Amino acid sequence: MKTYSTAASLRAAINTEKRSGKTIAFVPTMGNLHEGHLRLVQHAKQHADIVVVSIFVNPLQFGANEDLSNYPRTLAADKEKLFAEGAQYLFLPHASEIYPEGMDSHTKISVPELSDNHCGASRPGHFTGVATIVAKLFNIVQPDTAVFGEKDFQQLSVIRKMVSDLCMPINIIGVATARAQDGLALSSRNGYLNTEQRSIAPTLHRVLQETREAIACGYDSYSNLEQHAKISLNKAGLKSDYFTICDARTLRPITGDTEEVVILAAAKLGTTRLIDNVTLNVNPSADWGMLAAN
Ligand code: PAF
Repeated sequence: MKTYSTAASLRAAINTEKRSGKTIAFVPTMGNLHEGHLRLVQHAKQHADIVVVSIFVNPLQFGANEDLSNYPRTLAADKEKLFAEGAQYLFLPHASEIYPEGMDSHTKISVPELSDNHCGASRPGHFTGVATIVAKLFNIVQPDTAVFGEKDFQQLSVIRKMVSDLCMPINIIGVATARAQDGLALSSRNGYLNTEQRSIAPTLHRVLQETREAIACGYDSYSNLEQHAKISLNKAGLKSDYFTICDARTLRPITGDTEEVVILAAAKLGTTRLIDNVTLNVNPSADWGMLAAN
């Protein structure tokens, strides 16, 4: 695995690969890699000849009171995992190259409508930070394909919209959430949980699944379901931030045109914020019976 820390050196290497006819798949990350990230690399390998992974803890997507300085940095272990998984290129840019004149004056990409609700409401500016760094990394790497986890469902929606709106010739692939045996979605933030919190954390996925089952059975009083779910989470010791049943395409309330439902949830355990989601395919002209895999 070759490691590059400047955009020019990475681009030169990628251009050589492209000239010899190779296709490029890209997996952007913030490091602290776990099985979920490695699955993204595995999917990337299935879609292209060369897999490029980036590790950059992007300050622009962190709020002032968030965990940027404490964000786990585990570069040596990350490199070993990527090497073992067969990634060919690792990009480790410096903040001084990404934001040479600081973040305030840097061009920003904002994706309206999808960015302001759910996680965007609790984390103002977060998705502008994500869209901006992802667009910048896309311009540096110029991949044919880019791979993201479906755990960050709203992030994936924002990126798909940005790519479509800005006519970026990149195929975006979403990969199903990797979970622990008890259902907890794998996340770098799980490492912050103490033993008691770790035993409570799977409740988030359990409540999401129960809600999905209720909808699949035809229960359509969504605000009641949301209320009930929040109460269940709070009883278990999770402080619900949001729990929303919405249209998977618009991330807005369900309408008669909704074909896929997503139930998005975020909750805090102590100071650790967990997010998760489940989806449900619905066919408005037939019945509501088809459960999606995630
Ligand atoms: O999902 C993440 O790890 C980050 O938001 C991303 C996409 C790498 C952008 O910094």
